[in-house]
Amino acid sequence: MLDINKIREDFPILKREVNGKPLVYFDNAATSQTPQVVIDAIVDYYSTYNANIHRGVHSLSQEATDAYEQARIKIQKHFNAAQSYEIIFTSGTTHSINLVSSGFESLINQGDEVLLSALEHHSNIVPWQMLCEKTGATLKVIPMTQSGELDMAAFAKAVTPKTKLVFVNHVSNALGTVNDIKTIIAKAHSVGAAVLIDGAQATPHIKPDVQALDVDFYVCSAHKICGPTGVGILYGKQEWLDKLPPYQGGGEMIETVTFEKTTYAGLPHKFEAGTPNICGGIATGVGLDYMNSIGFDTIATYENELLTYATEKLIAIDGLKIYGTSKEKTAVISFNVGEIHPYDIGTILDKLGIAVRTGHHCAQPIMDFYKIPGTVRASFSFYNTMEEIDIFVAGLEKAVLMLS
Ligand code: ALA
Repeated sequence: MLDINKIREDFPILKREVNGKPLVYFDNAATSQTPQVVIDAIVDYYSTYNANIHRGVHSLSQEATDAYEQARIKIQKHFNAAQSYEIIFTSGTTHSINLVSSGFESLINQGDEVLLSALEHHSNIVPWQMLCEKTGATLKVIPMTQSGELDMAAFAKAVTPKTKLVFVNHVSNALGTVNDIKTIIAKAHSVGAAVLIDGAQATPHIKPDVQALDVDFYVCSAHKICGPTGVGILYGKQEWLDKLPPYQGGGEMIETVTFEKTTYAGLPHKFEAGTPNICGGIATGVGLDYMNSIGFDTIATYENELLTYATEKLIAIDGLKIYGTSKEKTAVISFNVGEIHPYDIGTILDKLGIAVRTGHHCAQPIMDFYKIPGTVRASFSFYNTMEEIDIFVAGLEKAVLMLS
């Protein structure tokens, strides 16, 4: 059982008002809020042991290095990676994807095929388009259905011996669909293709086991899992990380440097040039500890109750249409009401202290599929309540009345 009042006490921002109303924060798919333990870890780092890492024999540098590497081990354990050096710190999911896609420039050729899903965020489309432009490889799309699920029969047909890479999100940011990534990974591996899973929207709700999934790359962002912005996680199987060239050159990613030749450091440092976001990495570990102390099964059960309750209340509103009705969904509801522009609804909700995201959610192909400019998206977290859903639904009814 989740003690919701105690949990809400952990998030100072939930006490604030917006436009004179208590904040109802339903934009969790964009970024999660930050618990006090993570804020404290950030203050503690800058107040007591701020130093550069992997570089100094002095005590502060040792303390900071230990804390940073401990965070890497926490992340390794959370994702059940075989080795801590298979966890690379990046600046976010987008950076993680670009690191992998640019690395594949030397590994794929003209005539190869790369396969991505119709449900992708722009960050899991554009880097691969750039890769195909540079290499002459062909980009193929796994189509989606009206319910917002991937067409798995079409996927099975699209995989051929020419397929070299497959990219799919674990959960769609715009619709909340949970994709059957285990089946996708197994099918891609049957032709020797590598698979990258964008876990940015899954990791706030699901604890992935990268070894059980047998996934080649799994990427996500700290700021959606109670950590700070500016930190991303890239899990890569050692065999793939060894094959990829470095993404950036600089300090700390080298073994030896002369003007004639540089040799690169081993994993994970090969991909971590320059001074990293040290404090952010440490705080990411604290955020994961916090979520694990609640438990991902408990989080999923509670968020599912929020999703069911909100869905029932929303479909009772005249003219409201939900986009994304797959059986397996995280706590995300994308919708429109009649012909009302989502931006207008979002603006009125904001006046009532309610934060939702409006627009195409960086997933324009999904909006094109439904022939809409965008949606209103309410996304819930484990610190939201049924009462907040009541306030949101009442606010939405008011907005619809004003805009109709
Ligand atoms: N990708 C984030 C979202 O879906 C920002 O809102």
